[in-house]
Amino acid sequence: MSHKITLIPGDGIGPEITTAVTQLLDRTDVSIEWQEEIAGAAVAKHSGNPVRQQTLDSIVRNRTALKGPIATPIGKGFASANVELRRSLGLFANLRPVYNLPGVTTKFSDIDLVVVRENTEDLYSGLEHQVVPGVVESLKVITAAASTRIAKFAFTYATKKKRQKISAVHKANIMKMGDGLFLDSVRSVAHSFKNIEYEERIVDAACMHLVLEPTKFDVLLLPNLYGDIVSDLCAGLVGGLGLVPSANLGDELAIFEAVHGTAPDIAGQNCANPTALLLSAVLMLEHLGETKVAEQIFIALNRVLTKGKHRTRDLGGDASTHTFTEAISQEMELL
Ligand code: NAI
Repeated sequence: MSHKITLIPGDGIGPEITTAVTQLLDRTDVSIEWQEEIAGAAVAKHSGNPVRQQTLDSIVRNRTALKGPIATPIGKGFASANVELRRSLGLFANLRPVYNLPGVTTKFSDIDLVVVRENTEDLYSGLEHQVVPGVVESLKVITAAASTRIAKFAFTYATKKKRQKISAVHKANIMKMGDGLFLDSVRSVAHSFKNIEYEERIVDAACMHLVLEPTKFDVLLLPNLYGDIVSDLCAGLVGGLGLVPSANLGDELAIFEAVHGTAPDIAGQNCANPTALLLSAVLMLEHLGETKVAEQIFIALNRVLTKGKHRTRDLGGDASTHTFTEAISQEMELL
């Protein structure tokens, strides 16, 4: 069976890592027809909107996309293409599995947790206005509907993947109404899943516990902003942003992308680590039912990391993106 997949190379290191990943996937037994779309600054300069309707249509048609990172201007300029894609396509769940990889030495060696982040509301609703000069309000929107939806997703996912515990992360001691509503919604779902242990943690203390005892965590369930921040913290625990994949999931559609951004400091230097996007592609292949090839890629990547001969700069080596990718390709041929 052939899969049609929308491909958004993105900005910065995006084209380098998407090329690496599509080259590897094109050498497998899975037949993929890539349909390339651009999004971000190149599009926004024409229409003011970073995402074209034809890109949304392509993802709706194909139901699946693989996406490189897209830059968002800081403090001014067009709105985030990432937020726009997630919101307009109803991709309400952001799933970020975080685990140790072989050959990547970090302080802890047995981390295996999953961050589930609500993807559509909170402070990312884009509702900001100036009350008077010098005073700005940014509105944090929390709804029972979205909080219940992400909680059901997290508990169902945990059950399916045989996970033991969900930790809901919040700041309801201060934001009693907003985060309070999030917690109430999660609790009402937790009652129906007696098979999963449920706990609640205040976000600041959760961060401290994560860096001290990350292995005590299993599935973390967070509103949008805390999920964004905490998932980067978790990436740091296993060796950095270049290693952690993610999936943006809705009822019908899915976009797979690395957790990291465009890495402007290393863009165009052929030294970016494509692992995070490759692992996102592995999630994508599993989602498409191509589990055998997903496993082959995962094994080949692990072998390259275990041997340690080819490592990108972020992992202490000097291999280029290209050399590292070719090493994975060679391991795939041996399987
Ligand atoms: P970043 O993730 O791009 O970079 C942070 C640090 O991690 C940099 O030192 C970078 O070199 C390193 N890094 C990231 N990915 C790497 C990789 N694959 N291999 C080796 N090193 C890697 O975060 P930053 O600088 O905060 O954001 C840059 C731009 O990316 C911003 O415009 C931001 O809005 C955008 N961004 C886009 C995302 C997306 O499209 N999903 C997610 C996060 C940020």
